[in-house]
Amino acid sequence: MSDSIFIIQSGLAEGRRKSRLPGLLDIMQSASGLVLALFMWGHMFFVASILLPQGETIMWIVTRFFEGYFFFGRSIHWLVSCVAAFVALVFVTHALLAVRKFPAGYRQFRAIRSHTRAMRHEDSTLWIWQVYTGFLLFFLASAHLYQMMIWPQNIGPYASSDRVWSDGLWPFYLAMLLAVELHAGIGLYRLAVKWDLLPASRVFLKRLKWALTAFFLILGLATLGAYMKIGYEHRYQVGERYTPETLPDWLLRLAPAEDFQELRRMRTIPAEEAR
Ligand code: HEM
Repeated sequence: MSDSIFIIQSGLAEGRRKSRLPGLLDIMQSASGLVLALFMWGHMFFVASILLPQGETIMWIVTRFFEGYFFFGRSIHWLVSCVAAFVALVFVTHALLAVRKFPAGYRQFRAIRSHTRAMRHEDSTLWIWQVYTGFLLFFLASAHLYQMMIWPQNIGPYASSDRVWSDGLWPFYLAMLLAVELHAGIGLYRLAVKWDLLPASRVFLKRLKWALTAFFLILGLATLGAYMKIGYEHRYQVGERYTPETLPDWLLRLAPAEDFQELRRMRTIPAEEAR
């Protein structure tokens, strides 16, 4: 066999013409997954502000902060819609790129599942779980993002708790919490292994992954419990919005002049010092 025939038969001759697209799509998938996972961590801490002492006031401040209330002198709800729209864009991109790797049809799915079971290879099992949870998130995260985009004014200690309890959405949030924490944890682990992001062994990375998943699951469950409790206690005043009874002086000065007039008088903060 001549050298040229050998090269053609092994496919090496096509080497130069091979497309870079699959690699590029893989990078885009990893990058969008990383952005979503980092967003989720930040999101979880903001939503969990309800757990802090005086949590209702702290969550109110966090919500108003994102609405620009302390910067523009009023709540600009569409700012939240814009953030939700951006996250939705990254989410759809990530999902579109991920579908490439989903099993194409029931036969492929059964083959992957039976191979994974037979091999008992943990990383492959994790991958299957990422497919399951990712599939669930198609529906759950889309519905949640749509709600945040369309009704950004309905976010706050009472508004959110009413949604969770009186609108009966807590089972939805519970399912989304489990899916998103498992999905993000496995995703970040796979990212670290695939692109060699951290100088650590797989065993260590796996432990770190489970520790982070456990941390965010416990934080998420406690947070959901807090919204359910407030929602239950608030069940006869659904629709009423939360107004803090007190604010630190420096925040009071940033709030619009027409709000908190009574509190401002008590603290002897002149109206002209406010916005
Ligand atoms: C900018 C976009 C988003 C905003 C403004 C937002 C806001 C919120 C708020 C205010 C809550 C408390 C419950 C409520 O008000 O209904 C919540 C809960 C939750 N969100 Fe989001 N969210 C966004 C995007 C996402 C995304 C992309 C995911 C995941 C794919 C997600 C997952 C969750 C989960 C799991 C909970 C329940 C948290 C818990 O029970 O501890 N959110 N979100």
